[in-house]
Amino acid sequence: MTVDAATAERWERRIHLGAHPLLYPMIRGLGSIRPVLRLPGLGVLVSEAGLVREVLMDQQRFVKNGPSGSGALWTPVVGPKALVNMDGEEHKQLRQRLGDLFTPRSVAGIVEPAAAAFQARISGKLDSGRSVDVVDCVKDLAGGVISRLLGVPENAPGRLPNKELFNLGSSISSLVRLGRPTLTVRQIAKGRSAVGILAGPARVAYRESDPGTFPGRLRELGMTEDEAMGIISAFVMVGTETLVSFLPRLVALLSDSGRIGELASHRSTVPAVINEALRFTVPSPMMLRDAVAPGFIGETKVHPGDRVLLSTVHATKSLGSFDPDHAIPAQARQLWFGAGAHFCIGMPLAMAEINKTLEILLDRYLQHPWTIARRRVSTGVLIPGYKTLELANA
Ligand code: HEM
Repeated sequence: MTVDAATAERWERRIHLGAHPLLYPMIRGLGSIRPVLRLPGLGVLVSEAGLVREVLMDQQRFVKNGPSGSGALWTPVVGPKALVNMDGEEHKQLRQRLGDLFTPRSVAGIVEPAAAAFQARISGKLDSGRSVDVVDCVKDLAGGVISRLLGVPENAPGRLPNKELFNLGSSISSLVRLGRPTLTVRQIAKGRSAVGILAGPARVAYRESDPGTFPGRLRELGMTEDEAMGIISAFVMVGTETLVSFLPRLVALLSDSGRIGELASHRSTVPAVINEALRFTVPSPMMLRDAVAPGFIGETKVHPGDRVLLSTVHATKSLGSFDPDHAIPAQARQLWFGAGAHFCIGMPLAMAEINKTLEILLDRYLQHPWTIARRRVSTGVLIPGYKTLELANA
């Protein structure tokens, strides 16, 4: 097996430069200078894994729904009960009621139809000797998952195509930019219109009260209709871009580092490989909080009203090159899914989507090895990733 960490490293750098030629190198450069830095006009940048975790775990001093965090940005678009814009007791209670949302059975019901379509598309294209774009296929998969979250089966009359569902979800999440403290009236209108289209079928499914659908299940768990719509909107906007960023990067990372063949024949290391790829790519590169009480982060004094920029991208990436044989230090473990009260509630669903798609691509590789034929990185985006990643028969 040839392990070429340098190629994998080079492509990951290009992805970051494509997303923002100044911001990502700057954030990572600043992180190397000091673990906590006050950046005039921007906030307090925290770049060390232990300190990032400390802030996330301390809800008394740091809130997500403050004036400059990303939480409040969403309220005019998705309403006040979307988890990402809640804090304290109200948030805790809603999370508790959602505790049993993602059982292995409910997750399988959401992912399997979309995964079957993913497999058919990959095989169909490669079998006929054509190339297939993994990014496009993952968007389709994410659209299929959204459709299940809305409670709309694949064959429902008038159902929007997966790509349109994905684009609607993406049009909401792309409203967020790091330097954008509030949304304009036009952006709010655009976001609300997308939420309105998505919420239509979800409201119908909720009212029909079928626990076999996701909205019906939220009703069964005691959510009011508005709470259910807020949660579904949050899932659609938070859970799509991260996966469309991560899955193609995972595939490229494994191919570039020469690990695909070995992994296809020996699957026992798949969990460690996925974990390490999440650490190395960090699909959710930055989290925001507002300080609401005075104190310190590390040795830096923090005042109420300070915006806190949690640089997961530096905190976990700086731990080293992509190396699944290396144990991830405790303070960084799963930090790419957050920590504390707002820890990613969609993690079981995300992991099911990741495991299933990787399994499909590894099975295909065992039957007929494939290779990366062409690729382009995305430019000017919040979450770095590939715009296209084309696979072709080797
Ligand atoms: C690789 C994929 C994913 C990554 C890396 C990821 C990462 C994260 C992170 C870091 C947070 C915490 C943000 C913070 O504390 O500010 C978070 C929260 C959240 N994630 Fe994910 N996520 C992924 C996939 C998903 C999926 C598939 C869904 C659902 C469909 C989802 C739904 C959510 C929701 C609703 C929250 C907010 C939870 C709360 O505020 O209580 N995520 N995610």
